[in-house]
Amino acid sequence: MYYSLTGNNRKIAELLAKELSADIEEVKTVETLDLKNGLSMAKLALGAWLGKTPVIREASHKPSEYELLILGAPVWAGKLSSPMKAYMLENSATFPEKTALYVCCGGPKGDAAVDEMKKYSGKTPAATIVIREEKVKTGSYEANALEFASQLKKQ
Ligand SMILES: Cc1cc2nc3c(=O)[nH]c(=O)nc-3n(C[C@H](O)[C@H](O)[C@H](O)COP(=O)(O)O)c2cc1C
Repeated sequence: MYYSLTGNNRKIAELLAKELSADIEEVKTVETLDLKNGLSMAKLALGAWLGKTPVIREASHKPSEYELLILGAPVWAGKLSSPMKAYMLENSATFPEKTALYVCCGGPKGDAAVDEMKKYSGKTPAATIVIREEKVKTGSYEANALEFASQLKKQ
């Protein structure tokens, strides 16, 4: 499961799904969040910073039917982006024992969002990774994402 507003986390999720032959699904908000439609980054950031969560659609895949659940999302205002927070709060009771977590962020401080994800999942993840947005833009994220996938294959 991933959330992506501007496409970076989607790219990582698609690569991981291909590498691991996994099902993939995006967390969808009921109200469309679109930076082109008058919604400002500041409003999203403030909401995340205040810990608010949007209403999300029910996902079609059930985590409990899987051996491994990978969760990936952007960092907003230094925190886990709110749609993924909403998904995790609503679904963590059904998560399998084996989870893996990633965040993609613009700046150097993604670890706090990974820590939030650990807290919401209530589990020790099998693997975690923080990928900088610039690596997605240049394509060099692929090596990091494939290393993350290879760690998961070994376990
Ligand atoms: C509302 C908003 C707030 C953001 N706040 C941060 C931040 O505090 N720290 C950071 O490193 N990146 C921040 N970013 C950058 C995103 O984490 C980064 O662009 C990420 O790759 C976006 O993932 P996506 O393309 O999957 O949506 C922010 C982006 C948005 C839209």
